Formats: sequence, C-alpha cells, structure tokens
Amino acid sequence: MPTVPMPELPLVETATHASAPVAMAAGSALPDADAPAVPRHVAVVMDGNGRWARQRYMPRFFGHKQGVDALVRAVNAFADRGVRYLTVFAFSSENWKRPTEEVSGLMSLVLVAVSKYLTKLAGDGVRIRIVGDRSAVSDKLRRAWEHAELLTQHNDRITLAVAFNYGGRWDVVQACRRALAEGVDPETVDEEWLSRHMALSFAPDPDLFIRTGGEMRMSNFLLWQAAYSELFFTECLWPDFGEVEIDAALTAFAQRDRRFGGIRPQPVVREDR
Ligand code: FPP
Repeated sequence: MPTVPMPELPLVETATHASAPVAMAAGSALPDADAPAVPRHVAVVMDGNGRWARQRYMPRFFGHKQGVDALVRAVNAFADRGVRYLTVFAFSSENWKRPTEEVSGLMSLVLVAVSKYLTKLAGDGVRIRIVGDRSAVSDKLRRAWEHAELLTQHNDRITLAVAFNYGGRWDVVQACRRALAEGVDPETVDEEWLSRHMALSFAPDPDLFIRTGGEMRMSNFLLWQAAYSELFFTECLWPDFGEVEIDAALTAFAQRDRRFGGIRPQPVVREDR
C-alpha cells in the first residue's frame, strides 16, 4: 500500500488540531511528554509601537513608552499563566540604522524604564536578564542592566530576558568566536556545545514565538533557538497587546501538534490479513 505523506501543519494560528503539544525538556533534544500545554518559554517581537503612536498623531517615542508599559503588564500576565521565560526583542543589532533621535530616545527610555519599574518587577518575583552585545551601549546603561540583574537574581516566578543590541546571527558568531578563542577541538563543537555558548543558554528553547504588528518574519531574532518554536503572528500593535491577545496566543499554542521532526504514532496495519 503506498504511503500517503502527512500534510505539513500551517505555521500560523489557524491550526485546528486538538491534540495537546508537548514541551521540550530544558537542555534536551527530546520532547517531555509530561509537560503541560502551556509554553515554558515565549519569545516576542514587540512590533508596532511607531504605528500605534502615528494613529494617535503622536511621535514614535510615545509608542515606545506605551510599549514599555505593555511589556510590564505582559510579564505578569504570562507569569500568571505559567510561562517561566519571556524573551523580548527590545533593540536589534539592526536598530542602529534608525534616526539618531529615535536610537537615543530608546536608550534613555530603557534607563527611565529601569528606574520606574525595577522595584515593581523585583517585588513581582521577576528575574531580569539582558542578552545581546553590551559593548556598544553606554556605561550608564550597562551599569543599570547589571544592577537589575543583580537585584533580581534570586527571583524565580518568571525570567524576563531582554534582548538588547541582539541579533540571531550575532549570537551564532559570538558562540563560534568563543570556540575559536578557547581553542576547542572542532570535534567537540556540536549543537549541544553551541547551545551552551549562546546568549540564552540559561533557558530552554522558546516553545512559542509571537510577533505583533502584522509582519510575518523573524527579523534575525533567536534564529538558532527558534528552530522548533511555534509561530504566532497577530495584527495587534504591541502597546495594545494585553491579556486577551495573550490568551489567544496561548490557546493557539495549545492546539498545535508539535512533532519536532518526528511523526505522530501511526495505527499499526497488520500485513497478514
Ligand atoms: C518595534 O516597533 C519596536 C522596537 C524597535 C522597540 C521595542 C522596545 C520597547 C517596547 C521598549 C523596551 C524597553 C525595555 C525597558 C525593555 P516599531 O518602532 O518598529 O513600530 P512600527 O513597525 O509601527 O514602526
């Protein structure tokens, strides 16, 4: 009997499969069959701040400011729903191409955000980690990051990883550079070794990758780590991304059939009948 190939599942939130997904065990290539249908790790491209502001005849900076407030709400909403890691794309390696005024606005916004929200986030049990190339940011910003990381290092309700001056390709390159600098035997460098040297080595790979703002691309975010992430795209602009949208994304995730390159168990066909 000819084998009928299994159709590929759609990559957007229209999947209708009812079977519960399985999550990856931390640091393991194998799905953890006992894991609940809530993603352990969610990655978000927070897009649409500029358009949100323009719709209100306001400068783009106003949209970014609202974006910070949306982020603080989202961290708690994801944590309440059982998500353990939230990684957000706050500033990409490519964002330096934006007008100087916007870049410096974003830099100062981060400093303001740290002083405005750090105490609250620390009290909410959020652990903050920064991932990305810190060499290009000001000493002041670097010190603010270090302070936030130190102050929250014992929190374990949820880890908020802020990707800042981050790019997925940069991440692969910096891991390779470390291998060369350490003089590692090429035979030692495999997927597991590289994963341990990537910026998000402390977290399991993202189960769910969300992008707001209507574009359907990854924009150089977590290229390595998102190899098996479920993708969810929404038209919602980031400042409007609240509990309703979070629940829609988590519901879509719970309906996905994650196979990690394998196949679903097939019914056994008896040849001798
Ligand atoms: C994309 O929207 C958003 C960004 C490039 C910046 C996102 C940053 C924040 C929400 C602030 C993060 C701050 C901290 C403290 C983590 P866009 O400007 O590309 O919007 P558009 O596509 O509508 O123009």
